[in-house]
Amino acid sequence: MKKRMGPGLLLLIFLLLAYMAMARRETPYEKFQRQHVDTSRSWEPDPNRYCNLMMLRRNMTVSSCKELNSFVHGVLAGVVAICSSEGTWHHGNFYYSNSPFPVTDCQTTGASLWPRCIYRGAVSHKRICVACTNEQPVHYALPSVCSGP
Ligand SMILES: *[C@@H]1O[C@H](CO)[C@@H](O)[C@H](O)[C@H]1NC(C)=O
Repeated sequence: MKKRMGPGLLLLIFLLLAYMAMARRETPYEKFQRQHVDTSRSWEPDPNRYCNLMMLRRNMTVSSCKELNSFVHGVLAGVVAICSSEGTWHHGNFYYSNSPFPVTDCQTTGASLWPRCIYRGAVSHKRICVACTNEQPVHYALPSVCSGP
């Protein structure tokens, strides 16, 4: 009699594949999106509340309070285009956006103590500086990285 894979083995294989899909690490481009891009058309107008909400929601308070992080508001395609037509090469793989974007900068306050991360937020419109790989943004840099000499 031919031996066939039992349901137990199939289930094991299925669970293994499901686990592997879940454990797949995000790509640098995916990480950039999670940490720095907010495509919501409307967002919490109070920048302090916005930061406290978003830093938590985007998993930047999981093992420590990330001290400084910026969220760029806009459509993803507009941010990605900085790596090509909508950006100006600065140095290395850094590109400076030709147009300003609304940005919320989030910074921990002195009262912030993990796991209770407390942020102060500030909104501004500014050109943004990103590092690109394969025409995709993978790193957000302080604007000074791109505006300096
Ligand atoms: C945050 O982490 C949880 C648990 O690992 C995950 O399910 C969720 O998708 C993550 N959220 C984001 C925005 O990546």
